[in-house]
Amino acid sequence: MARKPIIAGNWKMNMTPAESVVLSQGVSNHYDRKWDKVDVVLCPPSIDLRSVFTVLDFDKSNIEVGAQNVHWEASGAYTGEISIPMLKDVGCTWCIVGHSERREMFGETDAMVNKKVRALVESGMKAIVCVGESLAVRDAGDAEGFVCDQVRAALAGLSDDEAAQCTIAYEPIWAIGTGRTATPEQAEAMAAAIRATVQELIGEQAAQGMRILYGGSMKPANAEAFLACENVDGGLIGGAALKADDFAALVAAA
Ligand code: G3H
Repeated sequence: MARKPIIAGNWKMNMTPAESVVLSQGVSNHYDRKWDKVDVVLCPPSIDLRSVFTVLDFDKSNIEVGAQNVHWEASGAYTGEISIPMLKDVGCTWCIVGHSERREMFGETDAMVNKKVRALVESGMKAIVCVGESLAVRDAGDAEGFVCDQVRAALAGLSDDEAAQCTIAYEPIWAIGTGRTATPEQAEAMAAAIRATVQELIGEQAAQGMRILYGGSMKPANAEAFLACENVDGGLIGGAALKADDFAALVAAA
């Protein structure tokens, strides 16, 4: 099955609202009709979302906007959190869930990731679900088991239609922001294992349709080899998403 590639930029905790205008305008300036064969997603910090929307012209480009995190409840006493209705109100259509930085630094568990994924798909939003192993887990020879367990936990209880709103981003923790990437062979092997897990958990149709991204020090110089992998359908980009030229080159390569 031909799957539409995705290039998503996770800006992490970078860019003030004023800087976000410059960066999103810079990305937008690169838009051309060839981008329409790719899902292009910018994920700025939440406080930048409105600023980014002032710049993007949805009549002229296919760029969509996502958040980096969300709470599963629609409202309530959750100081510091942001809800799905808030994201939808500003125009977000995507949301990253379960990034390793949130799992490691902010105690996000598999159960929380599943609640977020379910709340997002029930509301009609698209989830980019991050999974990935530490170097210790890889060195112990257990990377595939660990990552596939994360996938099972994140997607538990989803129907075929709900799974179709999800994308998995495989991001080995040891490759994030380190300049060290997985090899394309490692990325392909893990993406194939993830697809097999989705098939066993939800079914053939969900598995064949699921977009699986690689993330971890991906940049224009190394993207081609990842994007050529049969089971890798795009990238979740950190550092290189902060430079409009690099991000645009990644979209062009997809
Ligand atoms: O969400 C993005 C990933 O953590 C990758 O970040 O491209 O800076 O390694 P990176």
